[in-house]
Amino acid sequence: MSTTAKIDSNEFRTKYGPWALIVGASHGLGEAFPRQLAALGMNCILVARSAEKLQALQGQLESEFGIEVLSLTQDLSLPGATERMVEAVGSREIGLLVYNAGSPPYAKHFLKGDMADWSGLVVKNAQTLMETCFHFGGEMVERGRGGVVLVGSHAAFGGTKKLSVYTATKAFGANLGESLWAEWSDKGVDVINLLIANTDTPTLRAHMAEHGLEVTPEMNIPIPEHIVRVGLAQLPNGPSFVFPDDEHPQEGKPTRGQHRRDYVIESTRITATFVGDD
Ligand SMILES: NC(=O)c1ccc[n+]([C@@H]2O[C@H](COP(=O)([O-])OP(=O)(O)OC[C@H]3O[C@@H](n4cnc5c(N)ncnc54)[C@H](OP(=O)(O)O)[C@@H]3O)[C@@H](O)[C@H]2O)c1
Repeated sequence: MSTTAKIDSNEFRTKYGPWALIVGASHGLGEAFPRQLAALGMNCILVARSAEKLQALQGQLESEFGIEVLSLTQDLSLPGATERMVEAVGSREIGLLVYNAGSPPYAKHFLKGDMADWSGLVVKNAQTLMETCFHFGGEMVERGRGGVVLVGSHAAFGGTKKLSVYTATKAFGANLGESLWAEWSDKGVDVINLLIANTDTPTLRAHMAEHGLEVTPEMNIPIPEHIVRVGLAQLPNGPSFVFPDDEHPQEGKPTRGQHRRDYVIESTRITATFVGDD
């Protein structure tokens, strides 16, 4: 599919409806996802920490798009977050899970950070992410349809000074997503990691401000609306879409996303020799 292809809203809802659960849904990419999903006619469940922002966004989505919206104020870095989401969702059928929350609390040397903050980041980006995939992805596999979008980062590619625990957790998310793609793509459930670079969100701006820096036009940083538009269109083309490489592939030069796809397919084939191909 072309990276700019327009999504057919009927097809999208049939495959991924009726409800989308957007985990990390109040600002930045977390506002762009529900807006674009609501425009496709999807009902949305919004999860984040800031109750006021969630209420405001819920009101706008309901009146602008006439969809149903449910908000849940929840800190994902606390154990038990998944149980609270499952309880709030109740009997609503989640056809699309978007796990978007993921930025670190700050960019600092490992030893200058706080162990409670690092542990919270591990819970948010690994434990809660894994649990939501298990629960809601499991239901999708049973139904034989659905989609999972994991918002990842180039941080998954390797270690980086001042981003130690963040890079480690993003590698966890990317590998989990790719493995789930290998397990679920023949079961009607699409999985995609969106491995993005710097994007102009309030969190990026806040982190830069802490270091006396700001976003300038020369940086040419993409906006959340663009990432979300391309990312949703790529949902059937997992396991990983790397921005901006995969948006502009060059003839005869495999992109990073294509390399990762080839790796998952080959690694799955080799591993089957030792553990079976079921
Ligand atoms: N922005 C970038 O430059 C960039 C670059 C590469 C990858 N990414 C990835 O893109 C995703 C979104 O990033 P972002 O810059 O928009 O920032 P973010 O700080 O991860 O925020 C995204 C959403 O998640 C919510 N959230 C964050 N921590 C939460 C927590 N502990 N519990 C509940 N909700 C929480 C935020 O709302 P509340 O604050 O209201 O809770 C917000 O709605 C992340 O996965 C990030 O790793 C971003």
